Amino acid sequence: MQNKRARNLVLVGFMGAGKSTLGKLLAQRLGWRFIDLDHVIEARAGRSIKEIFSASGEETFRDLESAVLHSLLELERCVIATGGGVVGRAENWVAMRQLGPIVYLSASWEVLISRLDGCSDRPLAGKDQGVERIRQLHDSRLALYRQADLTVDTGRGDPAYGVADIVSYLEERGIWRKI
Ligand code: S3P
Repeated sequence: MQNKRARNLVLVGFMGAGKSTLGKLLAQRLGWRFIDLDHVIEARAGRSIKEIFSASGEETFRDLESAVLHSLLELERCVIATGGGVVGRAENWVAMRQLGPIVYLSASWEVLISRLDGCSDRPLAGKDQGVERIRQLHDSRLALYRQADLTVDTGRGDPAYGVADIVSYLEERGIWRKI
C-alpha cells in the first residue's frame, strides 16, 4: 500500500546525468507518473527548447521553466525530471521542495561529456559552446545540485542501480511501499 505522505520525487542533475532514462524506469517501478519538465515547457510554448533559446533567449526560457514548475505543485505520485539549469533560481528550490524529495543524479565529468557528445538539441551543450564552457557551467552548478536530499551516482552503467538506491530511500522514509 502506498503511504498517504507520498508526494512526488524530483530529479535534478547536469545534462547527460540520465534524469529521463532513470526517471522513466523509476516511475515504472513505483507505479507513479513520469513527467519531463522540458517536454511540458515545449508543449505549453508550442516550440522546442532550442527554438525558445534562439528566438527569445535563455531568460525567457528560465521564466517559462519557473512558471511551468510552479504549475505542477498540485501533483501527486509523479517522478519529475527537471532540466539541468533549474537549480539556478532560488524560487525553483522552494517549488521543488514542496513537490517532494529532491534527488541529484551525479556522474563524473568524463561520463557526462561523453554522453553529451554529438548532442544537437541542447542549446547549452552544442558544439559551438566549446567543452571548456560546458565544464565551467557544470562546475558552477555543483554546489547547487548538492543541496538535494539524496545524491545518486548514475555513472555505474545500469540505471537499475540508481533506481534501487532511490526506492530504498523512499521505503526507509515511508514515502513508498511495495504493495
Ligand atoms: C539545460 C538543460 C536542458 C534544458 C535546457 C537547458 C541546462 O535539460 O532544460 O536545454 O541549462 O542545463 P536536460 O538537463 O534535460 O538536458
